[in-house]
Amino acid sequence: MKTIILNGSPRKNWNTAMMLKEAQKGAESVGAETEYVDLFDLTYTGCRSCLLCKRKGAERCRCFWKDDLSPLIDRIFAADALIVGSPIYLGDITSQVHGLIERLHFCALSYDNYENYFKGKVNVGIVLTMNAPKAFYNLSYRRKAKEIAQSFQGLNGTVEVCTACDTLAGGGLQPVQHGGL
Ligand SMILES: Cc1cc2nc3c(=O)[nH]c(=O)nc-3n(C[C@H](O)[C@H](O)[C@H](O)COP(=O)(O)O)c2cc1C
Repeated sequence: MKTIILNGSPRKNWNTAMMLKEAQKGAESVGAETEYVDLFDLTYTGCRSCLLCKRKGAERCRCFWKDDLSPLIDRIFAADALIVGSPIYLGDITSQVHGLIERLHFCALSYDNYENYFKGKVNVGIVLTMNAPKAFYNLSYRRKAKEIAQSFQGLNGTVEVCTACDTLAGGGLQPVQHGGL
């Protein structure tokens, strides 16, 4: 079983990375082969609207833009599980994660009938870390977390969210809420 783990924080050893590295250990403990990628090490942007993925006869679920993200997108579609971590920046995921989502989903979207070209299944785990306390998360960010989860539904698998609130006050890793939305 192949699990790809993506750190969407620019910080390689802080809150989000700590959560992801524990998830990696967990995946490996049940026999998964894992690949860990710091998204901020890659050079890419969001979708450039080149529309090469929409050509008649083009290979489906492929992003044709030549940069560091396209080969990773190929590997995500071939994986069994994907774990994506992001700190909350201004109430949202980081721009790196947003760019990934645009590219991952747009290249799997049919412009003939807006169906999903992707017929495989990748289970998804989303890790969100934030300074906000849990009460503020429940009030203001829970809906956003649900939207983020929905943006991975095109991978046809289960989508689970794990959040860590109060990261500043907690002095680091303080996961306070797991699982559902
Ligand atoms: C540019 C920026 C914007 C942030 N915006 C928010 C925010 O809107 N809400 C929040 O709860 N925390 C916010 N934070 C705090 C981070 O989400 C929090 O410290 C997170 O755990 C950092 O993850 P990291 O240690 O993996 O980088 C922000 C931090 C930065 C640097």
